[in-house]
Amino acid sequence: MDNCSINKTVEKTDKQNIGDLLHFGKAVLEQNSNQNAESESILLLSYLLNKEKSALFLNRHLPVSPYKTKRFYEWVEQRKKGIPIQYITGFQNFMGLEFETSEGVFIPRSETEILVEKIIELIEMFPEKKRLSLLDLGAGSGVIPITVCSFFQKKGRDVNFYAVDVSEKALRLAAKNAQKFHCQNHINFMKGELFTPLKELNRSILFDGIISNPPYISHRDWKNLPDEVRIFEPPEALLGGEKGLDFYQKIIRESPKFLKPGGFLALEFGHRQKNDIKQLITENANYLQKVITFRDYYHNDRGIIAFKNSSENN
Ligand SMILES: C[S@@+](CC[C@H](N)C(=O)[O-])C[C@H]1O[C@@H](n2cnc3c(N)ncnc32)[C@H](O)[C@@H]1O
Repeated sequence: MDNCSINKTVEKTDKQNIGDLLHFGKAVLEQNSNQNAESESILLLSYLLNKEKSALFLNRHLPVSPYKTKRFYEWVEQRKKGIPIQYITGFQNFMGLEFETSEGVFIPRSETEILVEKIIELIEMFPEKKRLSLLDLGAGSGVIPITVCSFFQKKGRDVNFYAVDVSEKALRLAAKNAQKFHCQNHINFMKGELFTPLKELNRSILFDGIISNPPYISHRDWKNLPDEVRIFEPPEALLGGEKGLDFYQKIIRESPKFLKPGGFLALEFGHRQKNDIKQLITENANYLQKVITFRDYYHNDRGIIAFKNSSENN
């Protein structure tokens, strides 16, 4: 479809049906060399009309209101400019929950679902612990503490989090998401740099576990990131120093002071960082116990769990 015929379609705002709009979105995105034009057109329209994808196919002849039609054109135009779908629709599904997203806040990734699954498995291994206190460093939209809290809330277990982020915008969004999933009373959001807000409290807290998916992109990898990520997502949520290891060095060094004996440290990392991070952990005398690494759905190395020594002597 050339520009002229696409524009003609755009003008027919009052007589569009679902099929026309799906076709329009696909044609515009394809023209923009989008490899997933069809599936993205479907995704955008399904969010806009709040309908399952299958319902769109079954109702191709249903008319769409002029307001929603205009909105769809705007969304397709935004996508054409490279704006991530999650910023356009305002949502990202994470472990079956529809999290709100917003520009300026890191979009949750499916890789992090593995980290959350590992934390849930770990907590389930200790059913006698009725009350757990956890820390999430770099909370972003709040997906880690919220999915963990929401899971255990349904099971009647009291899992509480402190969740820290430097970004005011992220914390506002995370608080909104916590409210949405009824976890607001179990998560204490704090603004600041890693452990700093905890050091500023007038009491010391020891956690059963510390979790983080910190910024881990190296200078070299930054240049190779897709435009969609590099241009539109906040750099401070992505960049982890020259080798991408700055946050791991700080977290591994400082975390023992905030962990109970035997407490765990669970970190997500980039797929080429396993050896560096494992080395940082094994060089730390506080983490002489078991260390577990895990992979993501694509079989890339993706995370590590280490346990603080259970007594001063081991
Ligand atoms: C990769 S994102 C992860 C967000 C979220 N945990 C997730 O998995 O979707 C990293 C987060 O760390 C935050 N961050 C960056 N520097 C930080 C710092 N010095 N202290 C605390 N948080 C920081 C960013 O604002 C961002 O929200």
